[in-house]
Amino acid sequence: MEYRGYDSYGFCVFNGDKSPFLHKKTGKISDVESELSNLDVPGCAGLAHTRWATTGGVTEENAHPHFDCRKEIFVVHNGIIENYRELKEQLSQEGHKFSSETDTEVIAHLVEKFLENKNEDGQKRSLEEAVAEALKLVKGTYGILVMSKSEPQKIVAARLSSPLLIGVNDDEYIIASDPVAIAPYAKKIVNLDDYEIAVITPDKLSLARERSAEDLEYTSQEVERGDYDHFMLKEIMEEPEAVENAIRGRLMPEVGSVKFGGLENSAEKLRSLDRLLLIGCGTAHYAAMVGEYMLEEYAGIKCETDVGSEFRYRKPIVDDKTGAIFISQSGETADTLACLRELKQKGVTSIGITNAIGSTQSRETSTGIYTRSGPEIAVASTKAFIGQVATMAMLTVYLGRQREMSLVTGSRIVSELDRVPELGRQILAKREEIKKLVEKYKGYRDFWYIGRKYNAPIALEGALKLKEISYLHAEGVPGGELKHGSLALVDKDFPTIAICPSDSVYEKMVSNIHEVKARGGLVIAIATQGNEDIKNIVDDVIYIPKTLEMLTPLLAAIPLHLFAYYMAIALGRDVDRPRNLAKSVTVE
Ligand code: F6R
Repeated sequence: MEYRGYDSYGFCVFNGDKSPFLHKKTGKISDVESELSNLDVPGCAGLAHTRWATTGGVTEENAHPHFDCRKEIFVVHNGIIENYRELKEQLSQEGHKFSSETDTEVIAHLVEKFLENKNEDGQKRSLEEAVAEALKLVKGTYGILVMSKSEPQKIVAARLSSPLLIGVNDDEYIIASDPVAIAPYAKKIVNLDDYEIAVITPDKLSLARERSAEDLEYTSQEVERGDYDHFMLKEIMEEPEAVENAIRGRLMPEVGSVKFGGLENSAEKLRSLDRLLLIGCGTAHYAAMVGEYMLEEYAGIKCETDVGSEFRYRKPIVDDKTGAIFISQSGETADTLACLRELKQKGVTSIGITNAIGSTQSRETSTGIYTRSGPEIAVASTKAFIGQVATMAMLTVYLGRQREMSLVTGSRIVSELDRVPELGRQILAKREEIKKLVEKYKGYRDFWYIGRKYNAPIALEGALKLKEISYLHAEGVPGGELKHGSLALVDKDFPTIAICPSDSVYEKMVSNIHEVKARGGLVIAIATQGNEDIKNIVDDVIYIPKTLEMLTPLLAAIPLHLFAYYMAIALGRDVDRPRNLAKSVTVE
């Protein structure tokens, strides 16, 4: 469960009726890869987990697998058991002895209890029956795998709002919480359903809902780093490809429109909508914000954007003309899924913009579009963000053409979108310049990012990326907001990155840059190729090619992603796995 190292790891391997081999440690699994592969551990079934601490600190005891009083039942778990304190107290009163601070451990003890107690017919329970009984008492989210010494060739798997899938080969099963983990080993997968319990033995996979395995879309090459030092750099270099993949077969310049297979059956419903809620978290939320500008300006639809974690606790006022767009790379983000469920329950039409095929979000939205960015492995989202923004641009044309957008406008947008990959490659070809700039600025500890209109969210995205992987202090703010307070922080030690392409708010951005310069601040501008004047105002310039104003985010984000990447490298950070963060946030 989980496919990469975070703060601790552990595994157990079962070999006949011997006590399972158990190994748990704190630290990153990648640091001990060779040591572990030299271990001689016989057995043909086992559980493994890399942990990202939520309940209980980073200690060996808190690493998974967790076990019962007799060390016979072993569990790995993703998610959160919300009522674990009550369960733990009750189990402790019944005599169970706990050896960790985690919520997960209650599952092992509950299974132990139900295996000991006979069922209503006086029969001993099987492992899967005991797991089913245990899960009836649990509140929260889980993807779990359970094994017992008494049935060492059986793995019981169950999920609720936490991804779990089974890779199916001729002679083995591989269960994981992410398709990326399975891609190198299996070509066929089965996604577990919520509340489903699967039983895996050497010769059989028993599912609650019988179905055949589907093809796994990712190739092993896609999940390998190739010649790149880091996945993040590989994924930034794939940003032009992310646009190409998103638009492939969808653009119709001759009729100024876009076609989406996934929306075909909902065209009439979408035409009737007059308001859209756009919801995502983190970087996906910034893609939603860019989408809001696009949809309002070009499709003439009222939009509202929010982060999933806030929206889920609001009181949404909706009617039958309200639609909701959910943006998520993983399709497993708990906060975004909670909003989806809440709004679906209110009858709102849901549109999912998702990268991960078969993910919970893609299965639960009424209609949807895959961004097709391919697997994104670095924790920081880069190419997936570009895929999301490109998809928002296409959706704008699609919905715009259902309304008042002219053929000429639609055609201009789709034709320009088609050119974006080539323009993006021109920026990437000059990445050494950004690396040099980082050498100049790597001694600073604080950075402002400013932008306006379409690039206001890009300022937020640039700042988030720098914080996330270089651990420097960075703040993104719409340029016009500086003077409402933030400007007080500007001085010679607090450089500003100003996203100021030659667009409808360029002059406004120039004023904001002057405000910074007048207070002694250094400024790096992201400006349009050919704008020589800007050199007279700022300290450094990164040029991006000219494109339509609404598409500039697709280009402006590239140098910001590279800046964050090279800064993190210069500061010796763990770029692909920044501290304290997980790739998919499947817990609230
Ligand atoms: C930032 C980042 C996160 C994610 C956010 C949502 O680089 O990766 O902010 O964008 O956790 O994740 P998804 O898109 O999987 O819902």
